[in-house]
Amino acid sequence: MLPVKKIELHLHLEGAAPPSFIRALAAEKHVDLSGIFDAQGHYAYRDFNEFLRIYEAATSVLHSPQDFARLLAEVLERSAEQGVIYTEVFVSPEFCGGADLAAWRDYLAAMTEIAERMQGQGIGSRGIVTAIRHFGPERAKKSALCAAETAGGWIAGFGMGGAEAVGAATDYAWSFDCAREAGLGLTCHAGEWGGPESIRQALALGVSRIGHGVHAIEDPALIRDLAARGTVLEICPGSNIALGIYPDWPEHPIARLMDAGIRVTVSTDDPPFFHTSMRHEYNRLADAFGWGEEEFGQINRWAISAAFCDEATREGLR
Ligand code: ADE
Ligand code: ZN
Repeated sequence: MLPVKKIELHLHLEGAAPPSFIRALAAEKHVDLSGIFDAQGHYAYRDFNEFLRIYEAATSVLHSPQDFARLLAEVLERSAEQGVIYTEVFVSPEFCGGADLAAWRDYLAAMTEIAERMQGQGIGSRGIVTAIRHFGPERAKKSALCAAETAGGWIAGFGMGGAEAVGAATDYAWSFDCAREAGLGLTCHAGEWGGPESIRQALALGVSRIGHGVHAIEDPALIRDLAARGTVLEICPGSNIALGIYPDWPEHPIARLMDAGIRVTVSTDDPPFFHTSMRHEYNRLADAFGWGEEEFGQINRWAISAAFCDEATREGLR
């Protein structure tokens, strides 16, 4: 039996929007988004750059704090159905009023109300404010300021996603320093599309977690370093396979990274885009690597230790 209770650390709010939700919102607002769906009604993209484009197009129908609140409610309900008891959700002030602080406060208030209501229904959550790498360092600073000004409460972390090939993570050091000084936990996507050097640059930002980080497998010295630091990798195997980084589950390096002493965790990234769910991830990992209660129990304990919430909340998850 695989564990029923799951902790998820890496879930993009907009990327978790079911196509049916986006289609309904597009119809309400008279926006034509037909170009982003295939004949089956799924999100249609051929590669990562197209994925980012479709992602941003889908997000363009989310206009108001109320839209984001509805989306968060839907996403948390779906996560709870998967046995997730705590999730950390990437939210981007860029999509919530253009990273304007006053607007961001309104969006955040609407999302916080939903998060509190859903906590009462058995699923805890925290938000991680996310900069978007391909929007550049100057725009990232605006997101970091939004994060710093609203730190505490539901916002517990700061991170960065987007196109890893753009610039170096260290170009964004000002933003990460700003978020750290506000007491936020730090994570950065790296080693998804970039190699070991990209992961080293993210580590230089002072992050305790890396989003993906799978290309660490190519560098034994980096593996030793990550293991010694206790850096947690937010691994999203189904995402990596759907985007063609690995051909299939048995070739995914998560088990080798774990065996090498790295703290690995399992998340879905953008579930409807990648036709996955937390149960699907666990089942495929069990099939590919023979993982059972012991491995999934360890993964969830690492995830709880690495969560950006306060200690009392963490204790409640143990
Ligand atoms: N934003 C949403 N999903 C992402 C991914 N897999 N990599 C980088 N940025 C993202
Ligand atoms: Zn991600």
